[in-house]
Amino acid sequence: MSASTDVEGQSPAARSRSRCLDTFLTVSVIALFVMFAIALAGALWFAKHIENEINERKTRQLDGSADLLVAPMPVSAYKMQNFAYLRAIESELKSENVMAWESIQYGKGHTVGSLYTYDENQKVLNVKESGSYFLYVQLSLSCKGICQPGQFTVSFYNLLNRKELTCTVSLPDGNGNEPVRRTCWRVVTFPENGNRLMAKSEIQGKLDNWTLEMNDSGFGMFLVDGAQAVHHT
Ligand SMILES: *[C@@H]1O[C@H](CO)[C@@H](O)[C@H](O)[C@H]1NC(C)=O
Ligand SMILES: *[C@@H]1O[C@H](CO)[C@@H](O)[C@H](O)[C@H]1NC(C)=O
Repeated sequence: MSASTDVEGQSPAARSRSRCLDTFLTVSVIALFVMFAIALAGALWFAKHIENEINERKTRQLDGSADLLVAPMPVSAYKMQNFAYLRAIESELKSENVMAWESIQYGKGHTVGSLYTYDENQKVLNVKESGSYFLYVQLSLSCKGICQPGQFTVSFYNLLNRKELTCTVSLPDGNGNEPVRRTCWRVVTFPENGNRLMAKSEIQGKLDNWTLEMNDSGFGMFLVDGAQAVHHT
């Protein structure tokens, strides 16, 4: 044994054990990171997939060509019950405003699964079950005329009036350019059954000539971790 190991006071076996532990921790952290990245990619893919299905169905419905009632379900029924998507129904941008939404019809159903109810009077999406949810909002704004720069912010508040997600769109000055789009998302956790989400908008600047594109703005959510997520019925 050399003098240096005596100074450290570790036997070669202990050093090897600690090297093993280091490797184990490093690999664990990498594995966790990879798992998180895969879960996020999966969640985004799923959201996109459902949106595409909805858009396709909307288009077909407008064509009047498809038999929606016998069309196969886009995803298995258990996933649809966990999913909600609501579209914006007011194009005017307002400050201190509770935003109104609507679900989209497709076939026999609509885009609010049985895990949720939407209250049109209160403009609130009730979430029946506790669990972790992937929540996302998509905002698309366009300029009609001559537009001033500014910011449009949508925030989602839970039952306790705490912010769960905030999405801010920065608007340039301009005159009828391309629409400005932004998508924001977050995994939110409701520890108790019976929560809800309400969206409020805020504006900064003179945004009179900016409008929200209703057919391209909305929010969606689905259960990623909860009692219902593992029930395949
Ligand atoms: C909105 O656009 C019109 C022209 O289309 C312009 O006269 C008006 O000043 C604009 N409003 C704002 C707040 O920029
Ligand atoms: C959204 O609606 C506008 C008219 O209000 C239309 O010009 C546009 O093509 C629509 N976009 C989509 C994606 O359907």
